Amino acid sequence: MDRIRIVGGEALNGAIPISGAKNAALPLMIASLLTDETLQLHNVPRLADVAQLLRILGNHGVDHGVAGKRPGQTAVTGQSIRLRARDIIDTTAPYELVSKMRASFWVIAPLLARMGEARVSLPGGCAIGTRPVDLLLMALERLGASIDIDGGYAVARAPKGLKGGDIVFPKVTVGGTHTALMAAVLADGTTVIENAAREPEVVDLAQCLTAMGARITGAGTPRIVIDGVARLGGTEHTVLPDRIETGTYAMAVAMTGGDVLLEGARPDLLQNALDTLESAGAEITPTNEGIRVVRNGHGITAVDVTTEPFPGFPTDLQAQFMALMTRARGTSRIRETIFENRFMHVQELARLGARIRLDGDLAYVEGVQRLTGAPVMATDLRASVSLVIAALAAEGETTVNRVYHLDRGFEALEHKLGACGARIERISNS
Ligand code: EPZ
Repeated sequence: MDRIRIVGGEALNGAIPISGAKNAALPLMIASLLTDETLQLHNVPRLADVAQLLRILGNHGVDHGVAGKRPGQTAVTGQSIRLRARDIIDTTAPYELVSKMRASFWVIAPLLARMGEARVSLPGGCAIGTRPVDLLLMALERLGASIDIDGGYAVARAPKGLKGGDIVFPKVTVGGTHTALMAAVLADGTTVIENAAREPEVVDLAQCLTAMGARITGAGTPRIVIDGVARLGGTEHTVLPDRIETGTYAMAVAMTGGDVLLEGARPDLLQNALDTLESAGAEITPTNEGIRVVRNGHGITAVDVTTEPFPGFPTDLQAQFMALMTRARGTSRIRETIFENRFMHVQELARLGARIRLDGDLAYVEGVQRLTGAPVMATDLRASVSLVIAALAAEGETTVNRVYHLDRGFEALEHKLGACGARIERISNS
């Protein structure tokens, strides 16, 4: 298994190209199941999760081709993927595949909408919490599906097709909103989703579905209205830039000091996190090319944050921000409200010398003068990258084990940081 070795202490200077968003690419790829025509996606990141989802979609009968993957193409250039689900050959998504990636559960919606049935393994436990799918199934029931749980599988049926209906989510759920959208676009009649997720990835999916012929209004607001259509066609769509990757590198620069242009990044996708970083002492400047992040000399100030659905501070940046706060002046209070167990990085950050006390959903992070390198490992991808951020500022050498977590969500991480002066290398064990 690969490891990443980092020798801390170097400032970051230069430019980092921001990849397409993993969490937009995955639902967009799943949307290919809704049509027998070709969906071509550009700016798809080269990530383990994308490769895994291609295998899952292939199991349902989706043919794919990766365009432009020629010799000489650099690893940080997003790929273009053509997906075509001419015939759905299997409406079952088996445990062996779904258990590796939770987002693959979302295939239940397009399979049900197009084929009238779907049998999808329940995803099971997850390192960041219980993460149930009750709200996704509720949404499908509101559109007239019957749901049974049988042998660890959710079996959804709507033999006469789905019917538009009112879906009121009791809490904001990104996956629930994606699922409801993909089911409702082919339902008979009008669907209203209340308390919908407003995440940019939801808007990206809605835009792509609209280009495929769907009739959707209100994406990006808490109320989305969908008028079902009989069929959808193919289209071409470019995946939006990854706001979590953007925020991660912005925090890395705030941590090490330096001056980096995050190329292609869009400030409107993470305004809350950028404002928080400014309060902590980084200079953030939107430019025509992306976002410039500068920190020189004056250290970092402790800032409190609470994770919230978009447009609040994202849970997917909580671990990285905590890494930054380990070196701040003062004590920062970080509250995690989205997932109940998303503090797995705390013990590993402590191995680097961080002082963090946990009290329920609240972490008190007391800034220290210095971190020191150590071997560490993490259980999910955002936690892993928080260790990378801490290691970049730690004295001496850190080895981050279980790099496959990073490969799930960060394209060419060591190349991007290395090009800006970080001393970082991948050590392959194979
Ligand atoms: C998406 O997960 C993202 N994953 C997560 O990113 C992200 O952390 C999360 O949204 C929140 O922003 C992808 O987009 C692939 P939710 P999702 O449904 O859709 C509860 C990463 O690191 N809930 O918005 O699964 C749930 O337990 C990943 O890239 C129910 O109770 O998250 C949580 O407390 C990790 N019942 C809250 O809602 C349900 O049926 C929000 O979860 C569904 C969710």
